[in-house]
Amino acid sequence: MSNVTVIGTGYVGLTTGACFAHLGHQVICVDIDEQKIAQLSSGHVPIHEDGLESLVNEGLETGRLRFVLGASSSVAGADFVYLCVPTPQADDGSADLSYIEAAAMEISAHLDQGTIVVTKSTVPVGSTILVENALKRDDIPVVSNPEFLREGTAVSDFLHPDRVVVGSDDHNAAQLVAGLYLGVQAPILITDPASAETAKYASNAFLATKLSFVNAVAAVCEAVGANVSDVLLAMGYDERIGQTFLQPGPGWGGSCFPKDTKALIKIAEDRGYDFSLLRGVIEVNEDQFDRVADKIRNAAHGELAGKRIAVLGLAFKAGTDDTRSSPALEVLRRLLAAGAHVAAYDPAVSTLEDELADVEICADAYGACEGADVLAVLTEWPEFRSLNWTKVYDVMAHGAVVDARNLLKPEVLKRLGFSYEGIGLR
Ligand code: UDX
Repeated sequence: MSNVTVIGTGYVGLTTGACFAHLGHQVICVDIDEQKIAQLSSGHVPIHEDGLESLVNEGLETGRLRFVLGASSSVAGADFVYLCVPTPQADDGSADLSYIEAAAMEISAHLDQGTIVVTKSTVPVGSTILVENALKRDDIPVVSNPEFLREGTAVSDFLHPDRVVVGSDDHNAAQLVAGLYLGVQAPILITDPASAETAKYASNAFLATKLSFVNAVAAVCEAVGANVSDVLLAMGYDERIGQTFLQPGPGWGGSCFPKDTKALIKIAEDRGYDFSLLRGVIEVNEDQFDRVADKIRNAAHGELAGKRIAVLGLAFKAGTDDTRSSPALEVLRRLLAAGAHVAAYDPAVSTLEDELADVEICADAYGACEGADVLAVLTEWPEFRSLNWTKVYDVMAHGAVVDARNLLKPEVLKRLGFSYEGIGLR
């Protein structure tokens, strides 16, 4: 078993640390936030991530997981140092690598000879070299080991991945990193750093493309009177297409797809390739936010100014409290800009950024629906299905539902007197 230091305790770093401890490694997780370190050391996980808190507590109890403030004092004695710091989007769409560079510079002098430094943050092609340059140490191999974790299912994605990708020009170092995943049943692909880094961006961009395609097909279905659920089911039986990741919605969002699609366009552009397909994918997604806002406007009889809109769901998808680049917020901004009053409920989100201070956050779905002209479902929380819909109908001013996740049962709602509009449905 190995000594692993993980720098950065965001959802990638914390999942990586807790899962490596679960696999039997001795792990130190490092952050610069003193309060967060204290919180994590007492077994409290500040993010909504299924199974993570129990793994953290397991690691604390077995003594295989520790949380420490500051990177420089925590890397001595490590066999592997994982860099899991944020790579936010810079103004030109590229990934901002300043955190990763700073972390590499900070730890350099404290690393034992032969320690392997691994990048797990999503970093553009060429970043392995950037980390090597920041470390300025010939005796420290740098390896790329991109993460493919989904928020909400990060622990299970780590322990039961579809694949593990390891990229390095130092084959021995790559083999050692692959060895950390002992006990994980998955194909392990060892390749060069540029291929590992590109695989991460290309996977996310492909998935975003799939969803924009689905939402575009849904728009065609509406135009021709077809039912998108049947169309997608028929398509999905083709094994080359597959049934998963085909759910139409209000557009895609989250902390990865918007950032990574833009970054891949920039990576390509910097090398003289215009990734026009991906520009189209983003454009279709932005159109989708408009299309959903238009559906809500139509349900409000063509005018949003002065109308009360109940919004169910603020997170970018169900199972998380994350609202970063949430499609729900994109739609919500359009409603506010058109003069609507928005009352919202999300089971995992109770505050919004200042810019959305006008949104009334309610303690439950019924509160949000009180006096509403239209109800819009923007995140696919399963519990919305089992609301008391008779009660919802009674508290709303008008029984109009726009279901941007095709979550509810239209026949049931229509029987109760609601008008119902989904995505791509006849
Ligand atoms: C994504 C990738 O799936 C993951 O592999 C990568 O490591 C990080 O980015 P995540 O951002 O957690 O993970 O969310 P994901 O579950 O992929 O959903 C992304 C967006 O697509 C969400 O807004 C979601 O609601 C939307 N989506 C997803 C759909 O609209 N329909 C679907 O069928 C699936």
